[in-house]
Amino acid sequence: MSKCIWMLAALVAGTVPAVAAPPGPGARTIEHGRKLVTIAGCNDCHTPGWTEHGGTAPKDQLLVGGGLAFQGPWGTTYPTNLRLYVQSLTVEQWTQTVRTTKARPMMPWWVFRAMNDHDIASIYYYIRSLGPAGDPAPGYIPPGRPAPPPYLKLVMPPPAPATTGS
Ligand code: HEC
Repeated sequence: MSKCIWMLAALVAGTVPAVAAPPGPGARTIEHGRKLVTIAGCNDCHTPGWTEHGGTAPKDQLLVGGGLAFQGPWGTTYPTNLRLYVQSLTVEQWTQTVRTTKARPMMPWWVFRAMNDHDIASIYYYIRSLGPAGDPAPGYIPPGRPAPPPYLKLVMPPPAPATTGS
């Protein structure tokens, strides 16, 4: 009889697909997120003063956005305030967003391809652990419109002179 129960248990265990539990926001998960954010350079753009201060910032400035803005043929873009951004998202919505976003330059959205769901959730929990702070970053400004500095500007070479065909 007990052999039967064990066989049944083995059968069930073998047929039910293993579902990985979503990572909870424990200290190790948050620390993993902090490490990924540091290595992936999120602060370089999303934390004001990060570059100027050699990769450090007070906690109230971390990831509040607007840090390093960019202007080029795409217009002017300001790094999003991630501390406010995550507040309205569940971890599932965050994961879905960063997996599908094709944000404008200079956001390197392709870095998320190298991360698994645990990595992406860990970044979310790290940012959430910092709490909301700062103001929303200035909105996107289309090409040719004046934009508040400072920003880094990409200057393109002039177009090649037209050939006359002679
Ligand atoms: C080289 C600069 C740069 C780096 C590095 C960078 N970002 Fe961004 N990020 C931006 C800019 C600029 C925007 C705003 C883009 C726009 O207006 O479309 C942005 C937007 C975003 C958005 C909003 C996307 C959307 O669809 O609205 C998220 C989320 C984000 N960044 C997360 C991150 C995370 C997490 C990292 C680190 C893995 C990171 N960023 C690294 C510059 C950067």
